[in-house]
Amino acid sequence: MDTGIGRGKGGEGIVDRREGWSAEFAGHAREFGLRFGSGQPPRIFFSPGRVNLMGAHLDYNGGPVMPTAIDRGTFIALRTRADDRLRFASTLEPTSLETDLSGARFERSGRWVDYPLGVVLEVLELARRRGWARDFRGLEVLFGGNLAVGAGLSSSASICVGTAFALAVAWELPLDRMDIVHAALRAERGFVGVRCGIMDPYAIGLAQVDRLLWLDCKDATNEYLPFGAGGLSIAVADTHVRRKLAQVAFNERVEQCRLAFEGLQPSQPDATCLRDIRLDTLRSVGGKLDPVAVKRAEHVIREVERTFTARRALMDGDPRTFGRQMFLAHASLRDLFEVSVPELDRIVESAAACEGVLGARLTGAGFGGCVVMLLETAAGPGVRHRVVSDFERVFGRKPSIEIFGGDAGPREIAGPLADGGKGLGD
Ligand code: GLA
Repeated sequence: MDTGIGRGKGGEGIVDRREGWSAEFAGHAREFGLRFGSGQPPRIFFSPGRVNLMGAHLDYNGGPVMPTAIDRGTFIALRTRADDRLRFASTLEPTSLETDLSGARFERSGRWVDYPLGVVLEVLELARRRGWARDFRGLEVLFGGNLAVGAGLSSSASICVGTAFALAVAWELPLDRMDIVHAALRAERGFVGVRCGIMDPYAIGLAQVDRLLWLDCKDATNEYLPFGAGGLSIAVADTHVRRKLAQVAFNERVEQCRLAFEGLQPSQPDATCLRDIRLDTLRSVGGKLDPVAVKRAEHVIREVERTFTARRALMDGDPRTFGRQMFLAHASLRDLFEVSVPELDRIVESAAACEGVLGARLTGAGFGGCVVMLLETAAGPGVRHRVVSDFERVFGRKPSIEIFGGDAGPREIAGPLADGGKGLGD
């Protein structure tokens, strides 16, 4: 079915970098050799990032979300060792890790290595629970890739899902898709300590090209929605704003939502999560609650409605209505959920003024990062010009703006480091 919403090639003026991936993987393998020395060549894995088109901050409130994987992600070059030494390095971060797989007490460092280390611990624990006796050999792993870190494109779930996938291959463990998704999720919630919802590892672990994942986070039921052909594209504009304490601010939003639910639930005893609360319940008892909790709850309740409206629009082949929900979502994230920043607002405003842009909103948690736009492919050059020049006038620097294609989820890059590879399959 052609929903009229899809991914086109980038219009002239918006960079489309889908070409030339083999060279990037080969470069990563070379870099591995420089860091860890020659010998057995590493195996190379790829794990995508994601954009979420609708359902902002709904996953940890039990609501529906509509993410899709993107063709930017984490590269993982991995080689097993004869001993049980674990060595992690990254081309994107200065710190590295050296430890022993057995015998060491692992502690959270507050750095990027917590993500893959957390996954190692989860996978070992899963293997222990399932009684899989193995010789868990040490590893040399170089992380890197072409996904902006901390930009709302889920670099953390990308690295976690990718690591779980790579470990399953390296240690020959029969992990299925959901094992991988849950190992990634538990690592981030547990060892890393982010109170994240289920969206990101599901979006990446269950990814299919040219499909949106409709994920109902109340019970994790999910289905694929068509997002294929059509004269429209997804563009992502990066403000390059990164807030240091974004994780803390994110956990604070989770807590505020929890408190809002705690205050509202007695007036609607059938509700099991904030997603279930009705607007009339909020109206009738909201006056007794903390005003911040009321704002957060109103965002969640209305965003649930918007996400269902967007779903209907997608199925009816009505991209304009879909796009309108994105603009409304952004306004709500700015005013009620208070996770936007002036740079994101500027881009959304510029996009709204452009002919051919159907919708735009911040993607991910907010506090900086990226705006995702739905636009007519042919409008690309005009949109780029307008968004970049408006932004530059106000902030004195340029945002980057790119068209993103879809992706099929984590996989090993086969043979001569070509595109494609062996993935999770169905
Ligand atoms: C972050 C979290 C997700 C989700 C989004 C907001 O990306 O990791 O679980 O809550 O923010 O929609």
